[in-house]
Amino acid sequence: MNMINIKVAAIEQVTPLVKHFTFVNKDGTALPAFSGGSHVVVSLDINGRVHRNPYSLMGSPEDTSAYHISVRKQEKSRGGSEYMHENVAVGMQFKITYPVNLFSLAKKGRKHILIAGGIGITPFMSQIADLKRTGADYELHYAFRSPEHGAFVSELEQGCGTKFHCYTDSNGERLNLDELLSQQPLGTHVYVCGPNSMVVAVLEKARNFGWPENHIHSEQFLAPPIGEPFKMQLARSNKEILVPAEMSMLEAIEAAGVEADFLCRGGVCGRCELQVLETDGALMHNDHFLTDAEKASCKKIMPCVSRAKCERLVLDI
Ligand code: FES
Repeated sequence: MNMINIKVAAIEQVTPLVKHFTFVNKDGTALPAFSGGSHVVVSLDINGRVHRNPYSLMGSPEDTSAYHISVRKQEKSRGGSEYMHENVAVGMQFKITYPVNLFSLAKKGRKHILIAGGIGITPFMSQIADLKRTGADYELHYAFRSPEHGAFVSELEQGCGTKFHCYTDSNGERLNLDELLSQQPLGTHVYVCGPNSMVVAVLEKARNFGWPENHIHSEQFLAPPIGEPFKMQLARSNKEILVPAEMSMLEAIEAAGVEADFLCRGGVCGRCELQVLETDGALMHNDHFLTDAEKASCKKIMPCVSRAKCERLVLDI
């Protein structure tokens, strides 16, 4: 996979749990172009193990002199977010993937309703730059748990003016989804990024109010869950490998030197899909990509976020 060599140009502590990182191209040239809602996968070598985590690009797509990402320190970090917070310093160099957009704005949308929860604000930062540039009609609704956890609020207030609405949970402020989603003009698109409960609530409400499915957009990269270790056989590579408790199947495949496809590494895009040739146990699907019928068939698995509970698992890779 083609990667970009970057250098960390600046780090800013934005909230007690969020740091903002600025990356520039190691060779000093402009970085590849991207559109609002794109993400990159940051590749870090931590104690001999490669960690790859997706992060949304936050800066304006018009400025490719630098990329901006924000990282929330996870309470149950498998290493990546903690390392970004504790060890990454200005001047450090590492590799990132080229930007990919799995959460793009609908170009023909007459109006755009953006709903963010917590660190889910990040993809909207670049989308807003695109919306402002094209003069599109939009509203940004941003919920966070307490004032100190509201990242980039003053920047958004200044940049979005009356289109910006924020809700501080500790002040008892709540986003009224019924009101918001029942009164929008035809041709409006809704976008949500944030915690699972928020994403589920927005999708459900929008569907209940009859929004067309292709006007409802969500992004929620899932972190691979920690689970019981298990073994798997890689049929085409002729290898038997162990998936440790804190590693995803995809990471274990990569650690064994086998090349595997991916885009989001968060159970969303479907790119990492593998065929299951044999299993004698249960597949623990954690992705948002496969249909319920596909999950029940036990024929496919998304190794970036899913696991298995079995004695025997043979994959076509
Ligand atoms: S890499 Fe996107 S679903 Fe696995």
